Amino acid sequence: MEILKIKNLSKVYGGKVAYKALADIDLTIEEGEFVGIMGPSGSGKSTLLNMVATIDQPTSGSIMVDGKDPLRMKHNELALFRRRQLGFIFQDFNLLPTLTVEENIVLPLTLDGVSVKEMDKRVADVAEKLGITAILKKRIYEISGGQAQRTAIARAIIHNPKMVLADEPTGNLDSKASKAAMEMMEKVNKEDQTTMMMVTHDPIAASYTERVVFIKDGTLFNEIHRGDNRQAFFQKIIDVLSLLGGDSNDLSSIRV
Ligand SMILES: Nc1ncnc2c1ncn2[C@@H]1O[C@H](COP(=O)(O)OP(=O)(O)OP(=O)(O)O)[C@@H](O)[C@H]1O
Ligand SMILES: [Mg+2]
Repeated sequence: MEILKIKNLSKVYGGKVAYKALADIDLTIEEGEFVGIMGPSGSGKSTLLNMVATIDQPTSGSIMVDGKDPLRMKHNELALFRRRQLGFIFQDFNLLPTLTVEENIVLPLTLDGVSVKEMDKRVADVAEKLGITAILKKRIYEISGGQAQRTAIARAIIHNPKMVLADEPTGNLDSKASKAAMEMMEKVNKEDQTTMMMVTHDPIAASYTERVVFIKDGTLFNEIHRGDNRQAFFQKIIDVLSLLGGDSNDLSSIRV
C-alpha cells in the first residue's frame, strides 16, 4: 500500500527574488519502506521533508499521506494528524534538556491523554528496543549524543506513527554513535514496519535504507535500491554522489 504519494510537487520561495527550490517532484513510498533522500547542500531535501511533515506548503502539486491530503485539513485536524500519524527525528535531537529521558519519550502521549499505565508499558517496550532502559531516569544534559538520538528515536515511535521523518539524524554523531542510531532505525523499520523517510549527507547512514532517492537542483536525479548487500549499496551511493558533484570527493576512504 502507498503511504506517501507526491505528484508534480513544486515549491517556490517568495521574497525579493523568487526561488524555485523544488520542481515537478514525483515520489511514492510504500508502507514499511525505509527511504533515504540525498543530494548536495541546497538541493531541496529539507524543503521536501518539511512539506511531507506538513510544516510547509507546496506551491503546486499534491501530497497524499496514507490516502489523506493534509492540505485539505483544518488547522486542528492537521495538528492532530501530525501528532498521531507522524514521528520526527532531527539533527539536534530537539529534546527538552531539563526533562528526563522518560519524560521526553512520553511527550507525544501526554498530549493525547494516554493513561499512565499505558504510557509506562509503552516506554518500557520502546526503551528496551532501543537499549536505553538504564538511562530512563537521567536528564538529557546527563546523557551522550548517541543516547540522546536513541531517546529521540524512541520519542518518534512511541505513538506508533504511520511514518517517521528524519532530517540528518546522524549529523551530530560520531561514526560509532551514527551506526548505533542507524541500526536502531533499521530495527524499528523491520520489526514494526514503520515507514521511514530520512534525509542524510552520510553515505554510511544512507546504506541502512532500502532505497536512496537523489535530488539535484530541486529535481529527482536518480534512485537506487539496496538489495541484500549493504557494502555494495554503500559503494553505489558513493558512485552516484560523485556523479552529483558537491561534497563527495574524499568519501572513498570511508570504512563501512
Ligand atoms: N524559507 C526559505 N526561504 C527562501 N529560500 C529558502 C527557504 N528555505 C530554503 N530555501 C532555499 O531553497 C533551497 C533548498 O533548501 P533546502 O533547505 O531544502 O536544501 P537542503 O537540500 O536541505 O540543503 P542542506 O543539505 O544544506 O540541508 C536552497 O537554495 C535554500 O536557500
Ligand atoms: Mg537540509
